[in-house]
Amino acid sequence: MNPVKFHINGELVEASVRADMTVLEWLRLNPKLRGTKEGCAEGDCGACSILLARPGEGKLNYRAANSCIMLMGQIEGCSLVTVEGLTAEKSEPHPVQAEMAKNGSSQCGFCTPGIVMSLVGLLDNNPSPDDEQIHDALAGNLCRCTGYRPIVEAAKNAAADSIARLQKLAVAPIDNEATSKAVGNEASLFFRPKTIDDLCTMKSEHPDADLLAGGTDLALDVAQARERWSMAILTCAIPDMCKIRETDNFMEFGGAVTWEQALPYLERYWPSFAILVRRFGSTQVRSMGTIAGNIGNASPIGDGPPALMALGASVVLASVRREREVALDEFFTGYRTTVMDADEVITQIRIPLPLPDQHFRTYKISKRFDQDISTVCGAFMVTMEGSTVSKARIAYGGMAATSQRCPDAEKALIGNSLPQGMAAAAEAVSEYFSPMSDGRGSAQYRSKVAANLCERFARDIAGETIEVMAL
Ligand SMILES: Cc1cc2nc3c(=O)[nH]c(=O)nc-3n(C[C@H](O)[C@H](O)[C@H](O)COP(=O)(O)OP(=O)(O)OC[C@H]3O[C@@H](n4cnc5c(N)ncnc54)[C@H](O)[C@@H]3O)c2cc1C
Ligand code: FES
Ligand code: FES
Repeated sequence: MNPVKFHINGELVEASVRADMTVLEWLRLNPKLRGTKEGCAEGDCGACSILLARPGEGKLNYRAANSCIMLMGQIEGCSLVTVEGLTAEKSEPHPVQAEMAKNGSSQCGFCTPGIVMSLVGLLDNNPSPDDEQIHDALAGNLCRCTGYRPIVEAAKNAAADSIARLQKLAVAPIDNEATSKAVGNEASLFFRPKTIDDLCTMKSEHPDADLLAGGTDLALDVAQARERWSMAILTCAIPDMCKIRETDNFMEFGGAVTWEQALPYLERYWPSFAILVRRFGSTQVRSMGTIAGNIGNASPIGDGPPALMALGASVVLASVRREREVALDEFFTGYRTTVMDADEVITQIRIPLPLPDQHFRTYKISKRFDQDISTVCGAFMVTMEGSTVSKARIAYGGMAATSQRCPDAEKALIGNSLPQGMAAAAEAVSEYFSPMSDGRGSAQYRSKVAANLCERFARDIAGETIEVMAL
């Protein structure tokens, strides 16, 4: 037996369970931990939100995450706080709970524990959030009764003293073991390598085993399709895969770095990418979801790949046989297929640092502003010599079987000024892609929107104010 060892609300637990059991399932089996609710079971509603601090982050860092799409094997060594943990020390409610009650922020109450956890997570990291940051923290929490104004008020009122209360409960994550191991039971066991060499060895010995990073794509198979996995290989315990490194030429994000961990760096160098990533799922999804997972799932509507392609990013692929660096625009080979061999893993993502004459923007078009998947995502980078475009990289998601660059549009820009070249680039985009129709948008709509984004980019770079409407 390889029990999963973790802290919950300050207490050490050793759970002898299947590694592929969801954390929410485990919580709901315990009569003392049923404050955490199940709504959608697919990461969309936030009713199951808990706080999670992972080992190896240097400091204790609690972030809200969805327990419905988190698997027991993933929480080895972590420290979890559930809504019960907020009042474990004293019987009086946590300041967020008290303010929620005072402000009439809860009616049926089903969403309330999840909302409280998201707000406590926000305040623990940011004691004085502004309105936008509060709304951002709540983007993954649906409330169907109350409306968000009283909830936002409660967050503001609680801001002053909530941080002290959570820190009292905090217990450092416990993963001190330097060696690779496996957790779970004989029915479902997750390998937990500690080094990239061990990861590659395991992947070559078990080429059919899924690599599991944040699980925000993969765990849906368990939560929704009720699949059972006898094994998986975790990437989150490898210190070298969790590193973020800056060189003279590029930023390097390890293959287990989450979107939330990457955000401050994206904000510093590519603010437009950071704006897009803040609309990527919710805080809960970004706390677990990794950049490598977004690339590895090879979805044609993933938000990361178009931006990364326009930025000229590459991935480092490792296996027991070799290590190679592949440009992202050569990585996808077709619908959900890539150049990766069965024994290869993404160990790093490299993004060239911006140069003085470069301009980059990326735009996400979706039916809903928050927590929605893209209908079309466009990303543009141009290098200017004076007022002339000398280099261009334009990539789209949602327009083909993979995220893809549009070489004809790039050619139309090079040698012209942006205002001169953009009409031809837009026409080239319409002609180059033959998108499909689906529930998110018709082929005609996609073509029109993708072409229009060229004009939006040109006007944006010219300094025209662009109203972003949160519909
Ligand atoms: C509610 C919700 C909202 C979402 N919103 C968005 C959104 O707005 N935009 C968007 O693009 N996506 C969205 N997603 C999808 C998902 O969150 C992202 O694709 C995320 O980045 C996946 O990362 P992960 O670590 O969770 O991947 P996992 O689920 O762990 O893995 C995904 C795939 O990548 C592979 N993989 C993981 N790590 C590696 C590696 N190191 N090397 C090679 N392969 C690897 C896995 O084997 C698997 O095939 C959403 C998901 C949910 C549940
Ligand atoms: S139950 Fe809805 S996000 Fe988990
Ligand atoms: S209070 Fe009923 S769903 Fe929020």
